[in-house]
Amino acid sequence: MSEKATLSLDGKEYELPVIVGTENEKAVDISKLRAETGYITYDDGYGNTGSCISSITYIDGENGILRYRGIDIAEIAEKSDFIETAYLIIYGRFPTREERQEFNHLIVEHELLHESMRNQFQGFPFHAHPMAVLSAMINSMSCFHPQLLEIDDESKFIQATARLLSKVRTIAAFSYKHSVGQPLIYPTSNRSYTENFLHMMFSAPNTDYEPDPDVVRAMDLMFILHADHEQNCSTSTVRMVGSSKANLFTSVAAGVSALWGRLHGGANQAVLEMLMGIHERGESIPQVLAKAKDKNSDFRLMGFGHRVYKNFDPRARIIKDACDKVLYKLGKKDPLLGIAKDLAEAALEDEYFVERKLYPNVDFYSGIIMRAIGIPINMFTVMFAIGRMPGWIANWKETQDNPKGRIYRPRQIYNGPAKRSYEQAKTPFLD
Ligand code: ACO
Repeated sequence: MSEKATLSLDGKEYELPVIVGTENEKAVDISKLRAETGYITYDDGYGNTGSCISSITYIDGENGILRYRGIDIAEIAEKSDFIETAYLIIYGRFPTREERQEFNHLIVEHELLHESMRNQFQGFPFHAHPMAVLSAMINSMSCFHPQLLEIDDESKFIQATARLLSKVRTIAAFSYKHSVGQPLIYPTSNRSYTENFLHMMFSAPNTDYEPDPDVVRAMDLMFILHADHEQNCSTSTVRMVGSSKANLFTSVAAGVSALWGRLHGGANQAVLEMLMGIHERGESIPQVLAKAKDKNSDFRLMGFGHRVYKNFDPRARIIKDACDKVLYKLGKKDPLLGIAKDLAEAALEDEYFVERKLYPNVDFYSGIIMRAIGIPINMFTVMFAIGRMPGWIANWKETQDNPKGRIYRPRQIYNGPAKRSYEQAKTPFLD
């Protein structure tokens, strides 16, 4: 017999079904709670709330496990590339050789932007943050592909997916070129996905950027490690917007906005700014840790802690090794890496961090790799957005394919003023 939870409220007992996932994770199903009891649940920040049933990504935060479609992240990072990983995440299986060729072909076919879309870059001020540009430009894809606003068959979904994966790179690189006042560099079809991106970022009309294969691999790895992370803030946002049946492009643009915040994707930028600040001010490691622990200060050790991982972030391990390799290969001795390593070592032995299970997350090292590659700081979160695209697409699709899917609409506990009249509310403000 399947397990049930018993809830006692106002002297009555209610039986609630228990749902069990593939890896034996358990949830109490409260979907009929309000109808049956008149109560709702309260879970500020949704730390205990499962908002959906999903077959895309599995995370066990206590044991530092992350799997895409059942495959461990370390194995994917070692054996796959970003486009194959994207295909796996979006379609739930690896492509056949022909499907991979066809997918590559579509990605190449759609790497250019419509000229009117390209012209839009001129309208942004030079100092515009590239995340603002990225969100706006992805949203504007809704204007240029009206035939893909309603996705009612598989071939339209593939078309929309290939366009998004391909154009997000072009938009990202164009936004960078615009911000530094350089001519936009067009993609070339003979380069791999990631190499092409680096080419658009760093080539100029008078110089061709020849990326080191290890640098291309490190960047590709960064995209793989960010490709999905179940119901994080931006992915939940994409699902929320998509649940209203908003189109894929605009749903994903909302995800870009959610990612921008410094407690989410903005953390990689915040980590580097923090390390640069420590370096410039010559602060010692104990001083920094003391500040991070001081409850009267709003300073936090950026790149540390995670809502889900309470042991270690498996992505941080992989990226730390890649970071060492890239710096060695490029012959760069970055003082910030030294500070980062010392900080991590000290924090991992500090009672405050140990007690609260605060470990380095993926962002702790990713900024250092990107800095070594030459990616400017304000583009860091954009890199994260390119990587997260497959996860957003797959999650959006899951909401559309759910036959029982309803619009996402949480409830609240109201604690504002009790009922009062217009005059009562206005009286204190009358002379
Ligand atoms: N530095 C210092 N103290 C911290 C940190 C930190 N980085 N993170 C958490 N804490 C402390 C909190 O002050 C709190 O202490 P308390 O129990 O004494 O009040 C305790 O640890 C729990 O922290 P919460 O904020 O409740 O944890 P939550 O799960 O809500 O937040 C988050 C997780 C946002 C990642 C948090 O750890 C943080 O702000 N980290 C720094 C920002 C960061 O690196 N974000 C990237 C996340 S990974 C990603 O998005 C890809």
